[in-house]
Amino acid sequence: MRLSQHNVSFSDEELDIRSPKLVPLITYPHYSECEYKDRIIEMESLGITSIILGGGGKTIVNSAHIAGKGCVGIVVKSKVGSKVCALKIRRTDADRKTMDNEARLHKMANSAGVGPILEGYTKNLIAMEYVSGQSIIDWAGNNKAAKSKIRIVATDVLEQCFSLDAAGLDHGELSRLARHVIISDRPYIIDFESASTTRKTCNVTAAAQSIFLYGVVANKVKKILGNTDREKSVIHALRTYKHFHTRANFEAVLDSLL
Ligand SMILES: Nc1ncnc2c1ncn2[C@@H]1O[C@H](COP(=O)(O)OP(=O)(O)O)[C@@H](O)[C@H]1O
Ligand SMILES: [Mg+2]
Repeated sequence: MRLSQHNVSFSDEELDIRSPKLVPLITYPHYSECEYKDRIIEMESLGITSIILGGGGKTIVNSAHIAGKGCVGIVVKSKVGSKVCALKIRRTDADRKTMDNEARLHKMANSAGVGPILEGYTKNLIAMEYVSGQSIIDWAGNNKAAKSKIRIVATDVLEQCFSLDAAGLDHGELSRLARHVIISDRPYIIDFESASTTRKTCNVTAAAQSIFLYGVVANKVKKILGNTDREKSVIHALRTYKHFHTRANFEAVLDSLL
């Protein structure tokens, strides 16, 4: 897909935030005038000037292609002046009243060098760096021959997880890695809505298990890397790391995987 200088493709549709077409997205899934007006004011306060539909987004909501959808928010590509960013809009049926806690945890992740950079937030919105890429599951499916690439990406994801462990921030959903890592020029861990500073951190363990041992991503990775005795040594190294999150124990995990 050709991209213009502002990273907006010609098949994209760039709409003013007040465009009627955006109303059902801004107040997804239930419209209320009050919510809608609040959200427009919040967008303005963040400097969001337009929302871009299309953009290769696979998720379709009300026949619009958007960047993604979860239980808490829908994510659209948007613009602050000429700069592209991702805007996460709280769903009107989300099980939380504000994005404050997610933004706080997201900022902590950024301080540990993890996650798309948070640009700003309001009660119902989080504006952050837009990550253009594929989910790790699609990426692994497209890289059948590339063992070395898998190793580079897996090491990068696990280094980020080690940083989160060291910062005392547990992501909480890395056992469902396919939905929480986007591969761009490098892997990005996204979505800090279930993160916690009070739970025991198990980022490295959860991510290593989902890349190499169990689940949809692991099944693809195992096919690419081939069967070895990896599983036993991974389980052993993770068990030791689980007790003491030291750099040496972490490196033993990396060695066991690759
Ligand atoms: N910064 C981003 N850049 C591009 N796409 C994103 C970004 N953040 C999230 N997405 C997309 O939106 C989807 C939903 O976002 P997520 O934060 O997981 O929402 P929820 O908290 O509701 O689960 C993700 O699976 C991903 O496809
Ligand atoms: Mg999510």
